[in-house]
Amino acid sequence: MLPEAVIEIRILTDEELPRVDATLPLDRLTGSMADGGYLIAWEDGSPIGHAYLAWAGTELGLPELQDVFVTPDRRGAGVGTALTRKAERLVAAQGYDRLSLSVGVRNPRARALYERLGYEPADHPPKETRGTSPAAFRERNVTKPRHGLPPAAD
Ligand SMILES: CC(C)(COP(=O)(O)OP(=O)(O)OC[C@H]1O[C@@H](n2cnc3c(N)ncnc32)[C@H](O)[C@@H]1OP(=O)(O)O)[C@@H](O)C(=O)NCCC(=O)NCCS
Repeated sequence: MLPEAVIEIRILTDEELPRVDATLPLDRLTGSMADGGYLIAWEDGSPIGHAYLAWAGTELGLPELQDVFVTPDRRGAGVGTALTRKAERLVAAQGYDRLSLSVGVRNPRARALYERLGYEPADHPPKETRGTSPAAFRERNVTKPRHGLPPAAD
C-alpha cells in the first residue's frame, strides 16, 4: 500500500504534457481540451494516474469525471480515490454541488470504487461509449456530507 502523503494530485500543465503523455494514455487529448483538463497523480516525480474533468458539454449538464486511469502496478492503493476526491474539491470550489461520471456496466471494480465513494445512479439511460459496453451515469453531491463523513479536506 502506498502512503497517501507521497501521492500528489495536480492539474496538468503544458510544460508537463510531454512527460505525462509518454507514460499515461491521456485519451481525451485527441479531442478538444477547451471544456476541461487533466488531473495528474504524481508519485516521487513520476506520473502514475490521471482523470479528465469536463466542465461543459456533459451528458448530465454537470461537471463530469472522465478517463480515470491508474497504472496497473499502482492500483488498489488509493490513487483513483485521490483523483476523484481532488475533482470533487475543484468542482465544489467552483460553486457546483454535484459531480457526475459514468462507469461501464461491465467494469465491476470501477463501479465498486464509486459506490464506496458515495456515487449513486443518476436518473439517466446508459450510453454506448467508443464501441464498448454501455456506461451508466452516477452522481454525487460534493457539498453535503454522505455516509456520515464530511467532504474530504485538502
Ligand atoms: C478503476 C481504477 C481507476 C481504480 O483506481 P485505483 O487507484 O486502483 O483505485 P483505489 O485504489 O482508490 O480503489 C480501488 C481499490 O483499492 C482499495 N483501496 C483503496 N485505498 C486503499 C489503500 N490505501 N490500501 C489498500 N487498498 C486500498 C479499494 O478498497 C478498492 O478495492 P477493490 O478494487 O480491490 O475492491 C483503476 O483500476 C484503473 O485504472 N482501471 C482501468 C481503467 C478504468 O477502468 N477506469 C475507470 C473508468 S470509469
